[in-house]
Amino acid sequence: MKIEKLIKDAILSQEAYFIEEAPCRIKLDANENPYTLSEDLRKEMEQYIKKVSLNRYPDPGSRLLKRRLAENLHVDEEMLLIGNGSDELIHLLLLAFRSNPAGGVVIPVPTFAMYKISAVNAGQEIIEVPLNDDFDLDLDAMTAAMSRFDPDLVFLSYPNNPTGNLFSRDTIERLLSRSRGIVVVDEAYCPFSQTSFLSDLRRWENLVVLRTLSKMGFAALRLGILIAHPAIVRELNKVRLPYNVNALSQAVGLFVLDHESGFHRQALQIIDERKKLFEALQGLDGITPHRSDANFILFSCALQKNAIYENLLERGIVIKNFSSPGPLQQCMRVTVGREDENQEFLSALRDILRQ
Ligand SMILES: Cc1ncc(COP(=O)(O)O)c(C=O)c1O
Repeated sequence: MKIEKLIKDAILSQEAYFIEEAPCRIKLDANENPYTLSEDLRKEMEQYIKKVSLNRYPDPGSRLLKRRLAENLHVDEEMLLIGNGSDELIHLLLLAFRSNPAGGVVIPVPTFAMYKISAVNAGQEIIEVPLNDDFDLDLDAMTAAMSRFDPDLVFLSYPNNPTGNLFSRDTIERLLSRSRGIVVVDEAYCPFSQTSFLSDLRRWENLVVLRTLSKMGFAALRLGILIAHPAIVRELNKVRLPYNVNALSQAVGLFVLDHESGFHRQALQIIDERKKLFEALQGLDGITPHRSDANFILFSCALQKNAIYENLLERGIVIKNFSSPGPLQQCMRVTVGREDENQEFLSALRDILRQ
């Protein structure tokens, strides 16, 4: 059997999402939160897990979680959809919305890789619009792409991964007002940017906001949150698999929401560490960090970038190296870790730059 003959062309030409799995002591490559739970909180979390009936299917609509979220976010429950990570919610949007014959899905680039991967898998065409030199949205180019292709979906990462900056709010509002289709504002890094489009949902029926618990220290749970007009949520619920969020994640999700203020304080600690890391990187010859509102910093490197990356790896420190041609060719991205991890990364980098 020639399996290639049976697989869709778009999938055949696609690369699987690459996840670096280098053995390391200090992991600063995946925009994870560096903090684990204290012993006291872990014990409390166990009380939530104990209540789960493992012999039963999970609550199909994550109703308890949605009720609690609706209170915390001050939105109606009908505006919420819980996904197996926001990755799944991106996938559901791409499955549900039409594959516009005139165009497809518009994304500014560089941005989060899963928008394109999921779009291709869902049979959607992707129209990539380069960001300007400041890594902000190019309003003219975005408007031109939108009038030419009339997309049903536009994805904006806010702040943008991997550049770290927030796009101009004014530009996003103009796109929302000019777009016939849906504009998805992906706020995965909201705890570190402290700004949001959530309250704009009342103003724009075509706005979809995405959030996740992953960056708050719970990446393992795979809990993503979509907030949108109830009519959008109703349609997406038809595409969602019935038991998309497992019962253990739902239970721990409730625990997280009940203790949310503590996790928000932790995010403030990461913002402090980001400032220190940014200033230290600014002081290094040949390194230019880019402004970040997320829990990572993109930096340009005028030196032997790959050698620096390899040398860090040999010392057990893994960061993200970009190798594709384009605006990130000279860039690497480091996640803001704990203070001791950031210090070790910086002293290793200083040492390598001296060699
Ligand atoms: C912009 C953006 N959106 C979504 C995600 C995925 O989040 P989740 O872990 O909830 O699938 C990421 C992960 O890094 C991201 O950078």
